[in-house]
Amino acid sequence: MISQYRRPLPATNLRFMSTVMFDGRESSPLTGTQQITYVQPPHNLDNLIFDLKHQSVDAMTGHAQGDGSRPTPTEQQQIVNFEMALSTAEIIDNLAGRLEAHGAAGGPVPLTTQPFFVSINSSVHFLLPQFEQPGGLVTPGDGQFTPAIFNPFGAWASLPGSSPRAAVARGQAIFNSKPINIAGVAGINDDASAGGLVSGGISSLTGTCGTCHDTPNVGNHSYATCPASRCARQIPSPVGQRALARRRRTSAKP
Ligand code: HEC
Repeated sequence: MISQYRRPLPATNLRFMSTVMFDGRESSPLTGTQQITYVQPPHNLDNLIFDLKHQSVDAMTGHAQGDGSRPTPTEQQQIVNFEMALSTAEIIDNLAGRLEAHGAAGGPVPLTTQPFFVSINSSVHFLLPQFEQPGGLVTPGDGQFTPAIFNPFGAWASLPGSSPRAAVARGQAIFNSKPINIAGVAGINDDASAGGLVSGGISSLTGTCGTCHDTPNVGNHSYATCPASRCARQIPSPVGQRALARRRRTSAKP
């Protein structure tokens, strides 16, 4: 017997999302929601908030079998305000201890001030400027990309090698720098007609964990790469692909 478990959908750190639901179906014109693209402040959160409100209604009519009259617009806003204010991260490790100790910046507090905009540090825009606009690392459109996605544990790198904290820093370094041969990944390597990036496809690409997990100190993919008209059926982003494949294999509701 094979038991398979879906990973839980995120219910916190929602400020960093580039799609609502892993298959992007709550961020697609196909479901009456909006694709989350880069918009300048002060309207930068408008698409996400619209989609989260829509999700709150869908959840109530689907999971809770409501008649559609609730949540009211005011209640939707209250739900979304609550969701958007939540930041969550591990605070303590059994061996390494508190994750913000000794110069580290783990835990949820640094996440509350972590800079973010849709397409930040886009690994794709950096290579193919027509995609995932505007990209950029420090400011939108600055043309930069860094594979050094995570930095909370840099201060632990100089501790003795046997220290559990040094091991955490080594893991961060692997995430940030280990070369990975990316081949056969839908949405990246295949032909443009099949949802890939370029005509003829890219047979293989040397990347790192951050090629897919490009959002600084968060690890999501900062942009949903797919034509808006196909978002709900096609691959919303590299980080949505496997979830989408899994959805195809299961009839379970989220
Ligand atoms: C080719 C793209 C790609 C690369 C490269 C990649 N990942 Fe992923 N990763 C994914 C996708 C897609 C998922 C979502 C899988 C799912 O939801 O079933 C994922 C999920 C994860 C998760 C689970 C996240 C969560 O919220 O549950 C972790 C942790 C992770 N990857 C770590 C890594 C590490 C560490 C590396 C480098 C050694 C790496 N990934 C490289 C695409 C990639």
